[in-house]
Formats: sequence, structure tokens, C-alpha cells
Amino acid sequence: MKILLTGGAGFIGSHTAVELLSSGFEVVVVDNYSNADVSVNDRIIQAAKWQIKNFGEKPKTDNDVLPITFYYGDCRDGVFMDSIFREQEIDAVIHFAGLKAVGESVEKPLEYYDNNIGSTLVLLNVMKDHNIKKLIFSSSATVYSADNQMPLDENSQTGNCTNPYGWTKYMIEQILQGVATADKEWSIVLLRYFNPVGAHASGLIGEEPNGIPNNLMPYICRVAAKKLPKLNVFGNDYPTKDGTGVRDYIHVVDLAKGHVAALSYLYRHNGAEAINLGTGQGYSVLDMLNAFEKVNNVKVSYEITARRAGDVAVVYANPSKAKKELLWEAEMGLEDMVRDAWGYMVKK
Ligand code: WQD
Repeated sequence: MKILLTGGAGFIGSHTAVELLSSGFEVVVVDNYSNADVSVNDRIIQAAKWQIKNFGEKPKTDNDVLPITFYYGDCRDGVFMDSIFREQEIDAVIHFAGLKAVGESVEKPLEYYDNNIGSTLVLLNVMKDHNIKKLIFSSSATVYSADNQMPLDENSQTGNCTNPYGWTKYMIEQILQGVATADKEWSIVLLRYFNPVGAHASGLIGEEPNGIPNNLMPYICRVAAKKLPKLNVFGNDYPTKDGTGVRDYIHVVDLAKGHVAALSYLYRHNGAEAINLGTGQGYSVLDMLNAFEKVNNVKVSYEITARRAGDVAVVYANPSKAKKELLWEAEMGLEDMVRDAWGYMVKK
């Protein structure tokens, strides 16, 4: 089976490409490399070969060439996207492509709406033209409203997003629900990620945010590597065990495996289905920081500062629907996450 990954050179996309190759799928990646270095292409191949050599059976091809093709271009270019579907016999699509920095989306809303929604509309029309109607969408827990009780399940309130990035994910979910309602042949899964962190155990691929990281784990990695002076802990006066924010961190490889599980679900389901990809376990900022220092035997300087606007105290998933429908659950814990994140940082 041949799977098209839009944004497949990105953090989640590259790890999903490795899992697909290691599971015997053929992979087509399309990316404009606006948030990824083109060197990731070869590193995806090397990571898959590392994984197959260490954990899997021999690759199916004789000369050890893995079945992956890379296209460099923008998903908003309909002619370009149509050419890919003409050249490749795509069975299903995983749509990762999109801008994803919450703070940046507040400063550049039009860029986010044009990129994230524009690319989705072009993709859906090209898929329809080629009668390809199996799609996994990279959604986010950010579509949930801030005033929900925890844990969040797929029936929790959505909308009232606090930033344009969240609104794009919410609006795309609405578009996909509409497409599936209008044409019953579509099978769509809306995977709502919680907080993806970590890296592939080979240390060959990982998280590479442009500029100063917004998210906690890449920021901790830069401080530990002495590329940034200290971590600002955004508030320790939340109603949590140590006063710092609690989130449902999920290892990016667990997340990637969730996408492989969702692919087989596409073939036994119709309509559009939202499914959480989380662990169901919340950890605080200080839990993450202490685990990072302990597992990696490094020091991470930090200072407690004011809360970050828009942050909520506690977010974590009810992961039971993924277990029931995808026969998938996260397997890795906080120690794996901090070990692999650091393993990638030191290998770069
Ligand atoms: C985690 C915790 C911060 C940085 C975001 C997006 C969400 C999703 C995941 C895409 C919070 C604290 C952070 C720092 C800190 N992305 N923190 N100092 O905000 O839960 O979710 O990323 O889908 O859409 O909103 O993740 O890593 O930014 O923050 O103290 O320098 O770490 O306050 O409690 P967040 P995060």
C-alpha cells in the first residue's frame, strides 16, 4: 500500500514515514521544507534502515532500497498536487502539512488560514478528482474549549479556540465532517494530538523548531545543550501538585504508531471520526524538568516567571477510544521521552 504524507518532512510526519517504511508500506512525501531541512529525507531512510535492522524483518526489496519518494513543493499548488496523484498510485493520505506555532498564528493569522485551510481544500479536491477518499488529518487537542473538565474525551466541547492556529484545526475538522456527510464513500480520521515530544531512538530524526522554541521540551533541550541560558517556567501558582502546568506528553514514536493503526481503521469505517492520541497521564513542567535532569545526568537552569497568556492549568486525554477503535495505546513513558529527546540533541 502507498501512503501520501503531506508535510512528511516535519516532526510528526518524518517519524510516521519511518514507522510506515518499517511496517512494509510504500511512502510518498510532499513538503515545501518551510519548517524542515531537506537533509531529513536521507535521515528518514537511515532511521528506517536502523529500525528494520534492529527490530524488524529484512526489507522486502533486494537492494535494500526503501520504497519512498520525495516531492518538494507546496500543497496549495493544485497542478503540482495533481501531478503527484497522476504519477503515484496513492491508496490513502495523511495530511500533516500546515503551520503550527500558536504564538506566530496570533501575529500572522492570514498566513495560517491561507496555508492550513488552503492546502486542505486543494488536497481534498485533488483527492476527489482521483477518487481517493481515505484520509487521516493531523488535528490537535487545541480544538477543545478551555473550560472543559479533564480528562478530555472526543465528546468534550470544541471551539472557542484561543488562537488562529487552533481555529484552523477546528475549521478543517468541520470541513472534513461536511465532506464525509456529503459523500459516504469518504473514510476520515481526525487524530487529536496532545503534546508530542521525544525523538526516534536512533537519534537520526527529532524535533527541530525554527528559531527560539515555543514548546517546553525543545526549550529544555536547548538549555541543557547550553544554547539558551535558562528555562522560564511559566507560573507555579496553578492548582496543581507543584503549581506548574500539567500536560499529556506523548512520545512522538507512539504517536507515529497511532497513525499506522489509524490506516487500517480507515478500511473498516466510513464517515469522519475524531480520536484522541494521548497517554491519559498528565505531567507537570517540573516533572518533565526533573526527569530530564535525572535520566540524562544534565543540569537545566530555570526560573519561575509569570504565567504565559492563554495557558490553562491542566490538559490530559481520555485515550480509551483509540484503544477501542484503533487497537492502539501509548507504550512509552516520561523517561523514554526525555532520553530520546536528548539523544537527538546530542547526536545533531
Ligand atoms: C507545555 C507546558 C507551559 C514553554 C502547544 C500547543 C498545542 C500543541 C502542543 C500543536 C505549559 C510550559 C512551556 C516554556 C514553560 N501543538 N512551558 N516554559 O502550550 O501545552 O501546547 O503545543 O498542536 O496546540 O498549544 O505546549 O510545550 O508550549 O507548554 O513553562 O518555555 O510547559 O506553560 O504548561 P502547550 P508547550
